Amino acid sequence: MTGNPGHDWERPSGMWTTGPPPSRPGPPTRWSGVRHGPDAARAYRQHFLELAEQGVDLHGEARFVTALAPPPSRVLDAGCGYGRVAGELTRLGHYAVGVDADPDLIALAQEDRRTRYLVADLSTLDLRTEQEFHVVLLAGNVVPYLADGTLPAVLERLAAHLVPGGHLVAGFALDGSVPPGAAAVDVRDYDRWARAAGLSFIGRWSGWDRAPFTAASDYALSVHRLLGG
Ligand SMILES: C[S@@+](CC[C@H](N)C(=O)[O-])C[C@H]1O[C@@H](n2cnc3c(N)ncnc32)[C@H](O)[C@@H]1O
Repeated sequence: MTGNPGHDWERPSGMWTTGPPPSRPGPPTRWSGVRHGPDAARAYRQHFLELAEQGVDLHGEARFVTALAPPPSRVLDAGCGYGRVAGELTRLGHYAVGVDADPDLIALAQEDRRTRYLVADLSTLDLRTEQEFHVVLLAGNVVPYLADGTLPAVLERLAAHLVPGGHLVAGFALDGSVPPGAAAVDVRDYDRWARAAGLSFIGRWSGWDRAPFTAASDYALSVHRLLGG
């Protein structure tokens, strides 16, 4: 269980005394190949708003993180999109930061000023926060939408933003179930690159409800932990 932050943590608006350094662009993501521009971003958000209106539960990820690291924990929503999960994490009492390479999705996310959102590429991420994160979350198929070949760099950068003992939580669809434009990532490769980034394997499930992972699972929810702490 990740420890809670103490009084050293300020609200997101005060997270950096000077602001993080400008983000360095990475190679075009697979996401940018299928969805780009303000209209696509608004349509993506609208899809989730309609699901919520229909009563679909959109907060399994935030609950999972909260069970792992009770609020107020520092959580980085890596590939946050329009803020679906980061906004809920803030509502639950976490100090959440959302980053995404898609500037149009970040513009939508920034309409909610309670959470800090930044345009940044995960493969070059360097927030140089004065505080590191207790949990880094890759929710909603960020991994299959990365630019090809960047997963090792992304995991190295995310591990660099964790406190010792902090958790990396990633949920993504597997071969045969990946959404359009995404590329399937084998969990064995994911684990290999996580290990290379200094992360040890904690557990794997087939969904945010902790259903068991089996050879037939079409979704992997993986938890790794940074050594130390
Ligand atoms: C399917 S969307 C999921 C958005 C959000 N996590 C959610 O669950 O609602 C995938 C997101 O991953 C982001 N992404 C992919 N590669 C990225 C990278 N290298 N750096 C930052 N964001 C990236 C895309 O821009 C996109 O917003």
